[in-house]
Amino acid sequence: MATNITFHPGSVSAEERTGLLTQKGATIWLTGLSASGKSTIACALEQHLLHLHKFSYRLDGDNVRFGLNKDLGFDEKSRNENIRRTSEVSKLFADSSCIAITAFISPYRADRAFAREIHEQASLPFIEVFVDAPLHVVEQRDPKGLYKKARTGEIKDFTGISAPYEAPENPEIHIDTSTTDVAESVRIITDYLKAKGYISQ
Ligand code: ADX
Repeated sequence: MATNITFHPGSVSAEERTGLLTQKGATIWLTGLSASGKSTIACALEQHLLHLHKFSYRLDGDNVRFGLNKDLGFDEKSRNENIRRTSEVSKLFADSSCIAITAFISPYRADRAFAREIHEQASLPFIEVFVDAPLHVVEQRDPKGLYKKARTGEIKDFTGISAPYEAPENPEIHIDTSTTDVAESVRIITDYLKAKGYISQ
Protein backbone atom coordinates (compact mmCIF):
# COMPACT_ATOMS: atom_id res chain seq x y z
CA MET A 1 0.00 0.00 0.00
CA ALA A 2 1.24 3.44 -0.81
CA THR A 3 1.58 5.72 2.15
CA ASN A 4 2.01 9.44 2.57
CA ILE A 5 0.07 10.19 -0.54
CA THR A 6 -2.54 12.83 -0.90
CA PHE A 7 -5.54 12.83 -3.16
CA HIS A 8 -6.61 16.01 -4.86
CA PRO A 9 -10.11 16.07 -6.21
CA GLY A 10 -10.49 18.00 -9.43
CA SER A 11 -7.74 19.14 -11.73
CA VAL A 12 -4.18 20.04 -10.81
CA SER A 13 -3.64 23.79 -10.81
CA ALA A 14 -0.91 25.34 -12.92
CA GLU A 15 0.96 26.43 -9.78
CA GLU A 16 0.78 22.93 -8.34
CA ARG A 17 2.11 21.35 -11.53
CA THR A 18 4.91 23.89 -11.80
CA GLY A 19 5.87 23.26 -8.18
CA LEU A 20 5.80 19.48 -8.42
CA LEU A 21 7.80 19.38 -11.64
CA THR A 22 9.98 22.34 -10.62
CA GLN A 23 9.60 23.70 -14.11
CA LYS A 24 7.41 26.38 -15.61
CA GLY A 25 6.23 25.86 -19.15
CA ALA A 26 6.74 28.33 -21.98
CA THR A 27 6.63 28.47 -25.74
CA ILE A 28 9.61 29.60 -27.76
CA TRP A 29 8.19 30.55 -31.14
CA LEU A 30 10.75 30.60 -33.96
CA THR A 31 9.63 32.42 -37.10
CA GLY A 32 11.51 33.18 -40.31
CA LEU A 33 11.96 32.32 -43.96
CA SER A 34 12.48 28.76 -45.17
CA ALA A 35 16.19 27.88 -44.71
CA SER A 36 16.70 30.72 -42.24
CA GLY A 37 17.80 28.16 -39.63
CA LYS A 38 14.67 27.67 -37.50
CA SER A 39 14.73 23.87 -37.38
CA THR A 40 18.50 23.72 -36.87
CA ILE A 41 18.31 26.12 -33.93
CA ALA A 42 15.20 24.37 -32.58
CA CYS A 43 16.96 20.97 -32.62
CA ALA A 44 20.09 22.30 -30.93
CA LEU A 45 18.06 24.24 -28.35
CA GLU A 46 15.89 21.23 -27.53
CA GLN A 47 19.02 19.12 -27.04
CA HIS A 48 20.66 21.75 -24.88
CA LEU A 49 17.60 22.16 -22.64
CA LEU A 50 17.23 18.40 -22.27
CA HIS A 51 20.88 18.21 -21.20
CA LEU A 52 20.01 20.79 -18.54
CA HIS A 53 17.25 18.33 -17.52
CA LYS A 54 14.52 20.63 -18.72
CA PHE A 55 11.47 19.00 -20.24
CA SER A 56 11.52 20.37 -23.75
CA TYR A 57 9.88 19.38 -27.01
CA ARG A 58 10.13 20.64 -30.55
CA LEU A 59 7.20 21.07 -32.92
CA ASP A 60 7.98 21.73 -36.55
CA GLY A 61 6.87 20.91 -40.06
CA ASP A 62 8.47 17.48 -39.81
CA ASN A 63 6.30 16.22 -37.00
CA VAL A 64 3.26 18.44 -37.41
CA ARG A 65 2.73 18.68 -41.18
CA PHE A 66 3.25 14.91 -41.54
CA GLY A 67 0.61 14.13 -38.93
CA LEU A 68 -1.83 16.50 -37.31
CA ASN A 69 -1.65 18.99 -40.21
CA LYS A 70 -1.16 16.65 -43.15
CA ASP A 71 -4.41 17.89 -44.65
CA LEU A 72 -2.98 21.41 -45.08
CA GLY A 73 -1.12 23.03 -47.97
CA PHE A 74 0.53 26.43 -48.36
CA ASP A 75 -2.23 28.79 -49.48
CA GLU A 76 -2.97 31.58 -47.00
CA LYS A 77 -5.94 29.82 -45.36
CA SER A 78 -4.00 26.59 -44.90
CA ARG A 79 -1.10 28.44 -43.32
CA ASN A 80 -3.52 30.25 -41.00
CA GLU A 81 -4.92 26.89 -39.92
CA ASN A 82 -1.45 25.33 -39.64
CA ILE A 83 -0.43 28.07 -37.23
CA ARG A 84 -3.75 28.12 -35.36
CA ARG A 85 -3.46 24.40 -34.58
CA THR A 86 0.23 24.71 -33.76
CA SER A 87 -0.56 27.63 -31.43
CA GLU A 88 -3.10 25.53 -29.55
CA VAL A 89 -0.83 22.48 -29.36
CA SER A 90 2.17 24.49 -28.17
CA LYS A 91 -0.06 26.12 -25.54
CA LEU A 92 -1.04 22.67 -24.26
CA PHE A 93 2.61 21.63 -24.11
CA ALA A 94 3.50 24.83 -22.26
CA ASP A 95 0.59 24.26 -19.90
CA SER A 96 1.99 20.79 -19.17
CA SER A 97 5.16 22.57 -17.90
CA CYS A 98 7.07 21.78 -21.07
CA ILE A 99 9.30 24.27 -22.84
CA ALA A 100 7.75 23.97 -26.29
CA ILE A 101 9.87 25.07 -29.22
CA THR A 102 8.04 25.73 -32.48
CA ALA A 103 9.78 26.09 -35.83
CA PHE A 104 7.37 27.29 -38.50
CA ILE A 105 7.69 30.03 -41.09
CA SER A 106 4.45 31.45 -39.63
CA PRO A 107 4.55 34.32 -42.14
CA TYR A 108 1.48 36.22 -40.98
CA ARG A 109 1.64 38.68 -38.08
CA ALA A 110 -1.99 38.11 -37.16
CA ASP A 111 -1.41 34.35 -36.79
CA ARG A 112 1.57 34.91 -34.50
CA ALA A 113 -0.43 37.49 -32.55
CA PHE A 114 -3.11 34.82 -31.99
CA ALA A 115 -0.46 32.39 -30.69
CA ARG A 116 0.81 35.06 -28.30
CA GLU A 117 -2.68 36.01 -27.17
CA ILE A 118 -3.78 32.51 -26.17
CA HIS A 119 -0.54 31.99 -24.22
CA GLU A 120 -0.87 35.32 -22.43
CA GLN A 121 -4.50 34.60 -21.56
CA ALA A 122 -3.29 31.41 -19.88
CA SER A 123 -0.39 33.26 -18.15
CA LEU A 124 2.13 31.21 -20.11
CA PRO A 125 5.31 32.89 -21.37
CA PHE A 126 5.48 33.33 -25.14
CA ILE A 127 8.89 34.15 -26.56
CA GLU A 128 8.91 35.16 -30.21
CA VAL A 129 12.28 34.62 -31.87
CA PHE A 130 12.83 36.17 -35.29
CA VAL A 131 15.25 33.82 -37.06
CA ASP A 132 16.36 36.33 -39.62
CA ALA A 133 18.54 36.03 -42.71
CA PRO A 134 18.44 38.06 -45.92
CA LEU A 135 16.57 36.48 -48.82
CA HIS A 136 19.73 36.28 -50.96
CA VAL A 137 21.42 34.26 -48.19
CA VAL A 138 18.59 31.74 -47.71
CA GLU A 139 18.24 31.48 -51.46
CA GLN A 140 21.91 30.64 -51.74
CA ARG A 141 21.60 28.03 -48.98
CA ASP A 142 18.53 26.47 -50.59
CA PRO A 143 19.11 23.06 -48.93
CA LYS A 144 15.99 21.50 -50.45
CA GLY A 145 16.23 23.23 -53.85
CA LEU A 146 12.84 24.83 -53.22
CA TYR A 147 13.85 28.45 -53.91
CA LYS A 148 15.08 27.40 -57.35
CA LYS A 149 11.74 25.73 -58.03
CA ALA A 150 9.90 28.78 -56.70
CA ARG A 151 11.84 31.07 -59.05
CA THR A 152 10.92 28.96 -62.07
CA GLY A 153 7.29 28.85 -60.93
CA GLU A 154 7.34 25.11 -60.33
CA ILE A 155 6.28 25.81 -56.72
CA LYS A 156 3.62 28.45 -56.25
CA ASP A 157 2.99 30.65 -53.20
CA PHE A 158 6.54 30.28 -51.95
CA THR A 159 7.35 32.46 -48.95
CA GLY A 160 9.70 35.33 -49.81
CA ILE A 161 9.31 34.77 -53.56
CA SER A 162 5.65 34.57 -54.43
CA ALA A 163 4.01 34.69 -50.99
CA PRO A 164 4.53 37.26 -48.22
CA TYR A 165 6.61 37.08 -45.07
CA GLU A 166 5.57 39.67 -42.50
CA ALA A 167 8.61 40.17 -40.29
CA PRO A 168 8.04 40.52 -36.53
CA GLU A 169 7.96 44.15 -35.38
CA ASN A 170 8.71 43.51 -31.74
CA PRO A 171 10.13 40.03 -31.18
CA GLU A 172 11.58 39.15 -27.78
CA ILE A 173 14.72 37.91 -29.57
CA HIS A 174 16.14 38.76 -33.00
CA ILE A 175 18.89 36.55 -34.41
CA ASP A 176 20.60 37.19 -37.73
CA THR A 177 21.75 33.74 -38.81
CA SER A 178 23.96 35.14 -41.56
CA THR A 179 26.25 36.42 -38.79
CA THR A 180 25.33 34.23 -35.78
CA ASP A 181 26.09 30.50 -35.64
CA VAL A 182 23.91 27.79 -34.10
CA ALA A 183 25.78 27.52 -30.79
CA GLU A 184 25.61 31.28 -30.29
CA SER A 185 21.90 31.30 -31.18
CA VAL A 186 21.23 28.63 -28.54
CA ARG A 187 23.22 30.63 -26.01
CA ILE A 188 21.25 33.82 -26.74
CA ILE A 189 17.92 32.05 -26.21
CA THR A 190 19.09 30.16 -23.11
CA ASP A 191 20.47 33.38 -21.58
CA TYR A 192 17.10 35.03 -22.18
CA LEU A 193 15.30 32.15 -20.39
CA LYS A 194 17.69 32.47 -17.45
CA ALA A 195 17.39 36.25 -17.28
CA LYS A 196 13.60 35.95 -17.15
CA GLY A 197 13.81 33.25 -14.48
CA TYR A 198 12.11 30.65 -16.71
CA ILE A 199 15.03 28.28 -16.11
CA SER A 200 17.34 28.44 -13.14
CA GLN A 201 20.59 26.89 -14.36
S1 ADX B 1 3.97 27.92 -42.67
O1 ADX B 1 4.06 29.04 -43.59
O2 ADX B 1 2.64 27.28 -42.72
O3 ADX B 1 4.35 28.28 -41.29
P1 ADX B 1 5.73 25.64 -42.41
O4 ADX B 1 6.81 26.18 -41.53
O5 ADX B 1 4.69 24.76 -41.78
O6 ADX B 1 5.05 26.86 -43.22
O7 ADX B 1 6.40 24.80 -43.60
C1 ADX B 1 7.44 25.38 -44.33
C2 ADX B 1 8.30 24.33 -45.04
O8 ADX B 1 7.52 23.65 -46.02
C3 ADX B 1 9.44 24.99 -45.78
O9 ADX B 1 10.63 25.02 -45.03
C4 ADX B 1 9.59 24.15 -47.04
O10 ADX B 1 10.47 23.08 -46.79
C5 ADX B 1 8.22 23.56 -47.26
N1 ADX B 1 7.39 24.24 -48.30
C6 ADX B 1 6.73 23.60 -49.28
N2 ADX B 1 6.04 24.47 -50.03
C7 ADX B 1 6.23 25.70 -49.51
C8 ADX B 1 5.77 27.01 -49.85
N3 ADX B 1 4.94 27.22 -50.87
N4 ADX B 1 6.20 28.07 -49.10
C9 ADX B 1 7.02 27.87 -48.07
N5 ADX B 1 7.50 26.66 -47.70
C10 ADX B 1 7.11 25.56 -48.39
